[in-house]
Amino acid sequence: MRAGGGVSRVMLPTGRQAWVVTGYADVRALLADRRLSADVRHANFPALADGEQEVGSRTRPFIRTDPPEHTAHRRMLLPEMTVRKARAMRRPVQRIVDERVDELLRHGPPVDLLTQYAHAVSSTVMCEMIGVRRTDPFFRRITGVLGSQQIGGGASDAGTATEGLDALFDVFDALVTDREGDLGDDLLSRLIADQLHTGAVTRDDLLATVAITVVAGRETTTSMIGLGVLALLDDDRRLWKQLDADPTLIPAAVEELLRALSVGDSIALRTATEDIEVGGVVIPAGDGVIPLLAGANHDPAVFADPSVIDFRRAGRTHVGFGYGVHQCVGQNLARIELQIALGTLIDRIPGMRLDVDPSDLVFKHDGIAYGPDRVPVTW
Ligand code: HEM
Repeated sequence: MRAGGGVSRVMLPTGRQAWVVTGYADVRALLADRRLSADVRHANFPALADGEQEVGSRTRPFIRTDPPEHTAHRRMLLPEMTVRKARAMRRPVQRIVDERVDELLRHGPPVDLLTQYAHAVSSTVMCEMIGVRRTDPFFRRITGVLGSQQIGGGASDAGTATEGLDALFDVFDALVTDREGDLGDDLLSRLIADQLHTGAVTRDDLLATVAITVVAGRETTTSMIGLGVLALLDDDRRLWKQLDADPTLIPAAVEELLRALSVGDSIALRTATEDIEVGGVVIPAGDGVIPLLAGANHDPAVFADPSVIDFRRAGRTHVGFGYGVHQCVGQNLARIELQIALGTLIDRIPGMRLDVDPSDLVFKHDGIAYGPDRVPVTW
């Protein structure tokens, strides 16, 4: 696509057509352009699965809305997603990760690191973020629904996607009712007190915002841990050994893995509301547009030898968390979670290696996040 000019017309799995844009500068320009809408209700919204548009139109998660509606919902979360709040999660995240590594060690090899670690860590961290500990009866209910695989962009039909979301909304509804009777010092209690009880948001808005945040945070970090471990163990464990020898590289490694793996590639979906010229092509008003984050993150004009994972690359210029008004609201927490989840594995199970021929691995392309189906490892 890049060789063809970087702006291509493609057929999506739903049979719909859309424009895909791959260049770094073009992707950033489009994501900052108010003439592109994130509203899921546009006729040509470039959903990747049939169920996504129908369910999104009904529940209206704020990721699929435009300002000023989007701004109001995002603003509700922002005070909870600061660097300071994320830093305060370091201890609980370390505790959660240590408990899960203890369980891996008790179980012994071989294990599927995706289900027994990545999913478990990310679900538990999302629950902790909203104030639900593992001992809380709601923990099982929430993780049960999240684990049912029916939620997220991967649900191929509207019926399955609706069922999954309805179940999640029901659990959160019961949780909000429970917490209303006994407000604590946690994200959900604060949203109930500051937003719901003041009338700033409706109950449905609160449920939709919490649900999209938990689902978006869980699927993406699960894929990043799974795919990240595969990348580290590849090529005779070259990158794994590098981090084992020098753990101070972990924050830079996470940043580079976010760039190279770009697991949230299919989250940023847009529709042109006016004719827009990009890369010498005019995208007509009404057409779906996918600014491809992986394309931008692998643009050789910005990242030399883009397919090489190199921890010495500078900084956070990648667009793995998107760009513009919808840029990932959970990125501070995601960074800390990934640093701890990967760093602790390397520290406590340094001899980990793949327990499968890499050519036998299966990758899913249809969910919220791109990632492996399983990650069999041993040590
Ligand atoms: C490695 C992990 C993650 C990746 C790669 C990722 C990626 C992304 C991307 C690309 C977007 C922008 C979507 C767009 O422009 O339409 C986004 C938005 C969002 N993310 Fe993340 N994310 C991650 C972790 C998290 C976590 C941990 C949370 C929750 C704590 C979270 C919650 C959200 C929410 C609520 C939005 C919508 C923001 C808005 O529309 O204003 N994400 N994420």
